[in-house]
Amino acid sequence: MKKSRIAGTGSYLPENIVTNADLEKILDTSDQWIRERTGITERRVAKEGETSADMAEVAAQRAMKSAGVNPEDVGLIVVGTTTPDLVFPSTACLLQARLGLPDCGAMDVNAACSGFMYALSVADKYIRCGDVQTALVIGVDKLTAMVDWNDRGTAVLFGDGAGAVVLQASDEAGILSTHIHAAGRHSDLLGVDVGVGTGFKEEPRGGVLIKMKGNEVFKVAVRTLGRIVDETLEHNNMEKTDLDWLIPHQANYRIISATAKKLGMTMDQVIVTVDKHGNTSAASVPLALDEAVRSGKVKRGNILLLEAFGGGFTWASALIKY
Ligand code: ACO
Repeated sequence: MKKSRIAGTGSYLPENIVTNADLEKILDTSDQWIRERTGITERRVAKEGETSADMAEVAAQRAMKSAGVNPEDVGLIVVGTTTPDLVFPSTACLLQARLGLPDCGAMDVNAACSGFMYALSVADKYIRCGDVQTALVIGVDKLTAMVDWNDRGTAVLFGDGAGAVVLQASDEAGILSTHIHAAGRHSDLLGVDVGVGTGFKEEPRGGVLIKMKGNEVFKVAVRTLGRIVDETLEHNNMEKTDLDWLIPHQANYRIISATAKKLGMTMDQVIVTVDKHGNTSAASVPLALDEAVRSGKVKRGNILLLEAFGGGFTWASALIKY
């Protein structure tokens, strides 16, 4: 059976930087609190009118360039996003047209912060079963469009961006395994409780605002990520010491360091971008991966553990021989 390997990566961050000092001016918060509790110093905020598809388009073009593939080579596009430009057509369909891809399958996957990991899992399966040779996998979100700028508990956390990878069929192992999970029973702890089914609400922006019980989410995230790293290593008969890099979802430095500790890894084996990006939701893992590849930290042959946790709750991981 074929495996899929990462042939190229790309990413995009909006130009506009919002620092903790900027937030101190509009919220009852402090740079010290944000840095100590989250590790975040700044985040990027997309400008008015700059959409998920706009950000994803640039990331996808960069990934295709780094993989050396042309639009006509792509046989599947899967986009992890919770902030699609439209209810439909999907962001994947919008991108398919913009990027000039053939009439291949195109779909969005909504798994909040785990969206890219879920999308990667889907594309990997299509390549493994032989139906697709080359897939474009994107994680993109513009969560700042759903941030309540009066809520200091959430407004300081999020940023915008996009990350992408090109997967190609290969005889040699690339993606060794992917694992996806969800627990819908926790939906009251994190979400945006408005949608087509709820109709319109007479609140700012139609009430489309992120609501989170941060402390409770934190505890479940730490426990759950601890379990999924065990599951991933056991599935591959690998030891913690076989790992070269942890590339985690970038929600909170304390969650990241708890997972690293569980794996017996030092922080210099962990890709950390949360300080500069904040939590970019589905974009966070592919953004961190692209930075790690382009900076030369992650090299061909390295063993990478990718993981994410997000609203739903959803959580997911992938073990990759890069
Ligand atoms: N500035 C100053 N004080 C603050 C701020 C702020 N920005 N936010 C909260 N506080 C206060 C609270 O009001 C509280 O004050 P009190 O003790 O007087 O009541 C105090 O700080 C402690 O609040 P906690 O919520 O207990 O703080 P905690 O240490 O848990 O940190 C945080 C909050 C950063 C949100 C953390 O809980 C977290 O990271 N949670 C997980 C987030 C996450 O991983 N989400 C999943 C992915 S997101 C997605 O899927 C879209």
